[in-house]
Amino acid sequence: MDKIVIIGGRRLQGEVGISGAKNAALPVLASSLLVDGWNTFHNIPDLEDIKTIRSLLASFGVKSEGGHTVSINAGAITNCEASYDLVRKMRASVLVLGPLVARRGEARVSLPGGCAIGARPVNLHVKALREMGAEVELKDGYIEAKASRLKGATIYFDISTVTGTENIMMAATLAEGTTVLKNAAREPEIVNLSEVLTGMGARIRGAGTDVITVEGVKSLHPVEARVIPDRIEAGTFIIAAGMTNGDIRILDCEPRDIEALTAKLRETGMEIKAEDGCLRARGKKKVRSVDVKTMPHPGFPTDLQAQIMAMMTIASGLSVITETVFENRFMHVSEMIRLGADIVIEGNSAIVRGIPKLHGAPVMATDLRASASLILAGLAAEGKTVLSRVYHIDRGYEQIEKKLSALGADIKRVSG
Ligand code: EPZ
Repeated sequence: MDKIVIIGGRRLQGEVGISGAKNAALPVLASSLLVDGWNTFHNIPDLEDIKTIRSLLASFGVKSEGGHTVSINAGAITNCEASYDLVRKMRASVLVLGPLVARRGEARVSLPGGCAIGARPVNLHVKALREMGAEVELKDGYIEAKASRLKGATIYFDISTVTGTENIMMAATLAEGTTVLKNAAREPEIVNLSEVLTGMGARIRGAGTDVITVEGVKSLHPVEARVIPDRIEAGTFIIAAGMTNGDIRILDCEPRDIEALTAKLRETGMEIKAEDGCLRARGKKKVRSVDVKTMPHPGFPTDLQAQIMAMMTIASGLSVITETVFENRFMHVSEMIRLGADIVIEGNSAIVRGIPKLHGAPVMATDLRASASLILAGLAAEGKTVLSRVYHIDRGYEQIEKKLSALGADIKRVSG
């Protein structure tokens, strides 16, 4: 299994191109199930999770070709079952459920099971489909859903759920009548998906707010569209600048989508400003400690919690980091302590006491964003850090070690 080896202490400077957003590309690729014909999607990132959803779609008979630009056609769906061995690899596979029921009237999708960061139930997806008239049974670890034609309904999400909102928004596009999603998630990836669906002929209003209205239509048509840049990857590189007293120009990112992060990082003393179409992030020798509380968008993103914690381990004081979205998203803490960090977990908060320097050591990735935070810590640490189980990072970051070494980091991937 590959490892990533980092010799820390280098200042990062230069510019970096951000890939397409994994969490936008996944629902956009799933939306191809709604349409008979060739869609073309641009700016698809080259990631393990993208390969996973494309093989899942292929198992339904969906054709797709290309890399960063993907042409995809669900004209002939020959199977509506998403098997456990594929779904357990990636929970976002549940995104095929809504489109399959809407397009084919049936779906058999394995329950995703939990993952390192939490139980990750999909009860709200199931509840909403039932409210739209689908017959849904949970049997032998599978969700079995049937509906001759979904009916519009008013759905209230008890919890703001990103893929729940995406699944039901997609299902509603072909339902009979109007569906109103209340307490909908507001993430930019949902707005991107809504734009793609509208391009297919769907009638959607309110994406990006907590009330989304969808007027069902009889059928949709193929579209050519683009996936937005990955705001979590962009945020990860901005934090890399903050941890190495660096100066990095982030070429493709929408500053509006990461305001919660940039506002927080300015509190630490960083200089971050929009500069001719890019975002310029400059770190300081002294990093001020700040408190962070993760919230659904537009609050501070849970997917950047581990990364800002890495920065707080070398800040000047005490930082309280509270995780409100997932119940077990502190797997990176014990690994950071191996690098010398001073962190104590109290319930759903981590108390981080900043120290002058981390020291390199062998560490293990446990989940996607934890692995990114350990790479960040290794960049700032004195000496050598060796990260194992790097398959986690390959799920969500395209060629991260190439992008970092182009910024001056001493980082390389070794196999074995
Ligand atoms: C999406 O996951 C993202 N994944 C996650 O990114 C991200 O961390 C998360 O949203 C929160 O922003 C994709 O978009 C593919 P949720 P999702 O449903 O949709 C509870 C990454 O690193 N919940 O918004 O699965 C749930 O347990 C990944 O790229 C229910 O209880 O997250 C959690 O506590 C990790 N019942 C909360 O809601 C449900 O039916 C928010 O989860 C659904 C969710």
